[in-house]
Amino acid sequence: MAKIILDNIAHTYEPNANNPIFALKEMSLSWADGGRYALLGPSGCGKTTMLNIMSGLVRPSHGKVFFEEREVTSMITEDRNIAQVFQFPVIYGTMTVYENLAFPLKCRQFPEDQIERKVREVAEILNLQDYLSNRAKGLTADQKQLISLGRGLVREDVAAILMDEPLTVIDPDLKFRLRRKLKEINDKYKTTLIYVTHDQNEAMTFADNIIVMDQGEVVQAGSPKDLFERPQTTFVGYFIGSPAMNLYKCSASSQNEISIGAKAFKVKTNINSNSDNLKLGIRSEYITVESEHSDNSLEADVIEVEDFGNYKLITASFDSLKIKAKVKRELDIPSEKVILKLPAEHCCIYENNKLI
Ligand SMILES: Nc1ncnc2c1ncn2[C@@H]1O[C@H](COP(=O)(O)OP(=O)(O)OP(=O)(O)O)[C@@H](O)[C@H]1O
Ligand SMILES: [Mg+2]
Repeated sequence: MAKIILDNIAHTYEPNANNPIFALKEMSLSWADGGRYALLGPSGCGKTTMLNIMSGLVRPSHGKVFFEEREVTSMITEDRNIAQVFQFPVIYGTMTVYENLAFPLKCRQFPEDQIERKVREVAEILNLQDYLSNRAKGLTADQKQLISLGRGLVREDVAAILMDEPLTVIDPDLKFRLRRKLKEINDKYKTTLIYVTHDQNEAMTFADNIIVMDQGEVVQAGSPKDLFERPQTTFVGYFIGSPAMNLYKCSASSQNEISIGAKAFKVKTNINSNSDNLKLGIRSEYITVESEHSDNSLEADVIEVEDFGNYKLITASFDSLKIKAKVKRELDIPSEKVILKLPAEHCCIYENNKLI
């Protein structure tokens, strides 16, 4: 196992073009040994490229990859001690489940008794113990994917297990149980797990650390709490959370005050008087319903109140802007006008879409 360091990495798939497009823009990033990470971002943002650079399937156009102090940039995948699980299962159909799981250990000449112990242990974790003597090709798609996953898990010597949307072919209930299993495995064996997904719920429930990417760049790396409370960019505010963060164009009226149209709001951020292209962002979870006006309150027209069982979602409008507030379901919401408060401590201010 090892800390993985990406040092000034950048990658383009068209190195000979005059103006190459970079699938990964220059970045440095390190992955702690034993960490549980999610790599999250929309399709095409560079997640698979980054994973393949770590595993050695792609050689970066710029920069170096280190496992601890050892540079591995030009080392082939087989020599890197990385297990990679892809979106679709990669298994040997004519082999039995046992043989498939044992394969990575056989290749590395582990003793038979150690192979058997490890294969049975992993088969149990993945609920494959009753299928060990079945041929893999007769199994369902999700069982096949479990085998792929299992082949990563049998190896205790791996520096990391990289999973590229591994649960796409697996049904939601099993997906949930498997994510929990992966967490247990990470706790027990302290194997670094890096899990690629474009599903924020999957990322938030799985990982201690989430790396959010957009258009070839890492836009934020942090805990689920960091991403929720202090999104570093409006993209993260919008991409993470359900509903997305409320975002409004605004202007600075003084150092700790902004205006949206004619309405002023106090904020905790120190804003420079010449700050330009400002936005106010606030999570719907932090907006409260009030019975009378106070600082940072506004009157809005109720458009819709949806009851989601454990909370209510109010959609309202003020100055032709939409505002969404997530409140306790017991709360009675007026049907026409509602007073909403945007607490100053939860107002995030963005300049050119970056948090200030
Ligand atoms: N082999 C390749 N040759 C040329 N361009 C590629 C290749 N692989 C990826 N790209 C381009 O690089 C960019 C990043 O792709 P990548 O597959 O890393 O994104 P991703 O985040 O994994 O997307 P998805 O969620 O759809 O899997 C995209 O614009 C993609 O079209
Ligand atoms: Mg991908």
